[in-house]
Amino acid sequence: MAELLSIILAAGEGTRMRSAMPKVLHPVGGLPMVGHAVRAARSAGSNRIAVVIGPGHEAVSAAVALQDPQASVFTQNERLGTGHAVKQARAAFDAGHGNVIVLYADTPLVTSATIASIVAKLDAGADIVVVGFEPSDPTGYGRLLTEGSRLMAIREHKDASEDERRIGLVNSGIMGFKSAVLASVIDRIDNKNAKGEFYLTDAVAIADAMALEAVALETTEDEVHGINTKSQLADAEDVLQWRLRDAAMDAGVTLIAPETVFLSTDTKFGRDVTVEPNVVFGPGVVIEDEAVIHAFSHLEGAHVGKGASVGPFARLRPGAKLGAKSRVGNFVEVKAAEIGDGAKANHLAYIGDGSVGEGANIGAGTIFCNYDGKEKHRTTVGKGAFVGSNSALVAPVKIGDGAYVGSGSVITENVPSGALALGRGRQVTKAGWTPGGVKKPAVKAEAKPAEKKAAPKTAKESTKQTAKPKKKTKR
Ligand code: UD1
Ligand code: CA
Repeated sequence: MAELLSIILAAGEGTRMRSAMPKVLHPVGGLPMVGHAVRAARSAGSNRIAVVIGPGHEAVSAAVALQDPQASVFTQNERLGTGHAVKQARAAFDAGHGNVIVLYADTPLVTSATIASIVAKLDAGADIVVVGFEPSDPTGYGRLLTEGSRLMAIREHKDASEDERRIGLVNSGIMGFKSAVLASVIDRIDNKNAKGEFYLTDAVAIADAMALEAVALETTEDEVHGINTKSQLADAEDVLQWRLRDAAMDAGVTLIAPETVFLSTDTKFGRDVTVEPNVVFGPGVVIEDEAVIHAFSHLEGAHVGKGASVGPFARLRPGAKLGAKSRVGNFVEVKAAEIGDGAKANHLAYIGDGSVGEGANIGAGTIFCNYDGKEKHRTTVGKGAFVGSNSALVAPVKIGDGAYVGSGSVITENVPSGALALGRGRQVTKAGWTPGGVKKPAVKAEAKPAEKKAAPKTAKESTKQTAKPKKKTKR
């Protein structure tokens, strides 16, 4: 395979995001912008990736490593322009073999297909390829000065004449170079311009003067719209969500109301999955064949087995692993826990830090008490076990296979296989306790007219008053 290096520029502060976090770490579809750029570069066949980051941006470097441990990171200590930024990665392209693609980390929606088209044009003979588009408002962008199919120069907005500013075709920032061309033009770029920066875009006019060939490749605004503000971040999210929804539906997922389903870049679906309206998939979710995700569920870092049923109103947190045909119903939260094949937790439960065996039943209101205020502990429920409604399982604790926990129990000790555990107060029944069968309402609770006037406190006081006589009569 031919050598393809991608240089991703990510040194910007992104002041217009009004955030303490570097701009390129803001997520789109659950993945930081810089992760998208790295991903696109890799899926377009780059065998080397170099990311240029700002000083002190260790978090950006960490995000890059997470996405692609093989990518190398270069630091640009002073922000002297895009040409200067590319120069920081010089060690990566100095040898002059193959092609180089320059991407901006704040332009995360570029597709691998576009990168592949740049490479095709370079391989067909072009020395430089610039991806251009026609934005609704070209203000601020570099204009592409063309003569026929030939690209003569890129004029930055601040340096452009009135006439040049009327050009609608602008630079997206994404460019391709033959490595040897980049290595020879990069040192000829100066900073004699309106911004006093080393513009990478000057490479085009320099190449033209050297009788090298630069061409433009046009794409849509959706794909190359840069993100500078939170509002543009939301626009990009919308574009990406539709790409993800369309891809899921193309792969056979039924999205009943796709506009209400939010996906992550890495969401994975099997065949014949149905997703009802208003479901959010955070990062790291895998849904196997034939599973149904009912309305209003929220999933993150979870694995849902074949034919399982989730929700409505379920919450699966990181480490939730649901077996085949298992059921997690309304108002059930699962975190760092495995639910075995065919096991059920149909209503109102918290299953955190533990495991539920095959075919077990977790009754309504069951809580895995996993936290003692200091540390987390595990709860294990065996195969075919039955946990009665409203039980608290105080971890660390084990319920054996086929064991039965009576409703309303607080379980603090292990329950052996096949045993019945009851951990609750015994019911006390007192015959003939109310003389007429129905208890009379407490008379004292009736507020006197004078007390009624003491406005703000009355509500509290009246409950106190009704509570007191109750206690007395019980004795
Ligand atoms: C740049 C282009 C312009 C194009 C526009 C598209 C240049 C000179 N101009 O302008 O033609 O229309 O993008 O959005 O390239 N960066 C660094 N180090 C630097 C400077 C920038 O890493 O010293 C990075 C930024 O983080 C950003 C990208 O390069 O990801 C673009 O920089 P920016 O200053 O925003 O360039 P524009 O003025 O928008
Ligand atoms: Ca910009």
